[in-house]
Amino acid sequence: MNDIALTVQQTARPTGFPSPDHFRFAESPVPEPSPGTALVENLYWSVDPYHREMMDGDFELNAPLEGRTLGRIVESRDPALPEGEIVFHRHGWRTHSVVRPEETRLLPHHDGVPLSAHLSVLGGTGLTAYVGLTRIARLREGDDLFVSAAAGGVGTATGRFARLMGAGLLVGSAGSAAKVAHLKEHVGYDEAFDHHEGPVAEQLAKAAPDGIDVFVDNVGGDHLGAAIGALREHGRVVRIGTVGQYNTRDAPPVLFNHADVVEKSLRIEGFLVSNHRGLQEELYEFAVPHLLDGRLTPDETVVDGFEEIVDAFVSMLRGGNTGKMIVRRTGNGL
Ligand SMILES: NC(=O)c1ccc[n+]([C@@H]2O[C@H](COP(=O)([O-])OP(=O)(O)OC[C@H]3O[C@@H](n4cnc5c(N)ncnc54)[C@H](OP(=O)(O)O)[C@@H]3O)[C@@H](O)[C@H]2O)c1
Repeated sequence: MNDIALTVQQTARPTGFPSPDHFRFAESPVPEPSPGTALVENLYWSVDPYHREMMDGDFELNAPLEGRTLGRIVESRDPALPEGEIVFHRHGWRTHSVVRPEETRLLPHHDGVPLSAHLSVLGGTGLTAYVGLTRIARLREGDDLFVSAAAGGVGTATGRFARLMGAGLLVGSAGSAAKVAHLKEHVGYDEAFDHHEGPVAEQLAKAAPDGIDVFVDNVGGDHLGAAIGALREHGRVVRIGTVGQYNTRDAPPVLFNHADVVEKSLRIEGFLVSNHRGLQEELYEFAVPHLLDGRLTPDETVVDGFEEIVDAFVSMLRGGNTGKMIVRRTGNGL
């Protein structure tokens, strides 16, 4: 193990898109675990759109950040944290973390499941997709769906889960021709379009001329307005995120026909995955057998090297990822 630890810190608040200049890498000696804690050497890091929101105020400047991370316990001063175990925790954006049992989850041993899947389809990303479909949309077999940011982490998990759950027509929007092709050729979407290629409402009307039952929304803005117009009676909007606005706070408000919500008896409901952690075991029961029999494949963009974490984060905000953006420690052997 190296005896220098690296920690990413935010140094300034961005206006619009962040850049690597808003961060720095701080060096320190590898921390010592005190009684009741353990030292974790981190192996995989998640970079997420919500980190952009936190950059506006929740992240303290010049202090360690938070983020979902997987690592191996290398030194333990607590029997609940056995050395050698792989754990999930939220002290991310650093090479080494000192954790307490109550803020750590020992990962289940699912032979044949890649570790990175615990940050993609089996992690918070997959749980978000699962909650959105099962608890918020209350998906029924044959429901026709539209998903925005469909080629991202939540969007690909939503598409793959919906297919396995018996959805009808699956339409996705994404930011490039390559992503559109990936959605149709690999993820299971029937139709997909590039949101840069014309008004979303027009492209959605072409892709789903008979309308949709469910809209899973990761973006907001014109996607939300278009989908409300396309929803059928008793349609549901699952509000997951608003990534289209995190870097453009002064974006104009969404325009849609408010009467549609009444006349079509629509339901628009948002949620935070942190309020649904109790469904983690149910997600494993649903997804792990499909992962093992090959019917479910995680979509991930894996960037090698902790020193690339800031660039990976900035790239993800600009659409540089297909599937979940994950950073892997170089040579972690897993
Ligand atoms: N409610 C919850 O508890 C919860 C939990 C997890 C995530 N989320 C939300 O879910 C959404 C997706 O998160 P994720 O982790 O899966 O990220 P992601 O979709 O993997 O990555 C972000 C993607 O957003 C797209 N994007 C960026 N700017 C856009 C714009 N102006 N218009 C349309 N698309 C844009 C980019 O894809 P393109 O190249 O396709 O444009 C980019 O790849 C985010 O809104 C996030 O905040 C919510």
